[in-house]
Amino acid sequence: MPDPDLLTVRGLQKLYPVTKRGLFRSRQTGVIRAVDEISFSVARGQTLGLVGESGCGKSTTARSILHLIGASGGEVLLGGQDLLATLGGDDRKAELAMRRRVQYVFQDPYMSLNPRWTIAQTLSEPLRVHALLPPAAWRARVLELLELVGLEPHHADRYPHEFSGGQRQRVGIARALAVDPELLILDEPVSSLDVSVRAQILNLLARLQAELGLTYLFISHDLSSVRFLSTRVAVMYLGKIVEIADVDTLFEAPRHPYTRALLSAIPVPDPDRPAARNTLRGEIPSAMNMPAACRFHTRCPRASAVCAAHEPPMKTQRGHALACHHPLNEPAPAEPLGPES
Ligand SMILES: Nc1ncnc2c1ncn2[C@@H]1O[C@H](COP(=O)(O)OP(=O)(O)O)[C@@H](O)[C@H]1O
Ligand code: SF4
Ligand SMILES: [Mg+2]
Repeated sequence: MPDPDLLTVRGLQKLYPVTKRGLFRSRQTGVIRAVDEISFSVARGQTLGLVGESGCGKSTTARSILHLIGASGGEVLLGGQDLLATLGGDDRKAELAMRRRVQYVFQDPYMSLNPRWTIAQTLSEPLRVHALLPPAAWRARVLELLELVGLEPHHADRYPHEFSGGQRQRVGIARALAVDPELLILDEPVSSLDVSVRAQILNLLARLQAELGLTYLFISHDLSSVRFLSTRVAVMYLGKIVEIADVDTLFEAPRHPYTRALLSAIPVPDPDRPAARNTLRGEIPSAMNMPAACRFHTRCPRASAVCAAHEPPMKTQRGHALACHHPLNEPAPAEPLGPES
């Protein structure tokens, strides 16, 4: 049976040294564990939502997978092939072939589009780099891509500044699709857009996935977008993944106290229903000074002595992965460290 997982990430780690400049030389004073030995997989044709507060390591995860920054450790497989080794290796042909299979969509399409290029030039560039089509066929492919993402043929000869934010993100998506990728890594693709435009782009992404059989790693701090688009969801806190489950399970019956706290922060549209209390206490700790053992223990309403002493291992039961000593479906600890929610 073929492996259902297209993307497999095992023990991925990215550390940044913190240095202090001295009179003659700088010395390392600490380390930022931006992404700390995380593991997950994404099944072919499905979407894994990666969610967590700003600074928790989502973009670092994306950029490490794509080898835009060098990982400090771990392994990334695409369809069983070693993605990081291929992208970082000496075989340019193999690297290009791998790059074609995984494409990145950025949060801010304006920053990632060349302002001096027409949309046709932007969309032709990947065709040139990957030598997929002869130059004479580029124009037809550009028009096809524009139609695919809901833009008009006359948009081909316009410049990025002539577009709205939503239209620019459509161009960003079209550019990613130009090379017929299998996996799209979408890093906060709708976060800079107005709510109504956000829904249009999310609908476009859902349609493209169904039509083209694409696999998505969808990164967002916006839980409503994650719920709409994801098949499964991974929750990240300070460089660690703390829970992974099917989207409905995660939203209806989360087991990690941090997941519940995140969900309770979603605004409730019904004025008759009281908003759930946000159970988080304290500020998010600094990445340079992370709590030991369970990184959430300084804010967790269920934390006990064991949480401050031992890091909870990630355990998976029936497809639900969890790293917590006192999950929500089990009794609360007898002697919590702080006030229980
Ligand atoms: N180049 C870098 N040097 C040092 N620290 C970094 C660098 N890039 C990111 N970080 C740190 O890594 C952590 C994760 O950042 P990031 O992946 O951008 O988070 P997110 O995308 O979830 O908001 C943050 O604490 C951030 O300050
Ligand atoms: S391990 Fe302890 S501190 Fe960490 S999330 Fe679970 S209960 Fe809270
Ligand atoms: Mg980010």
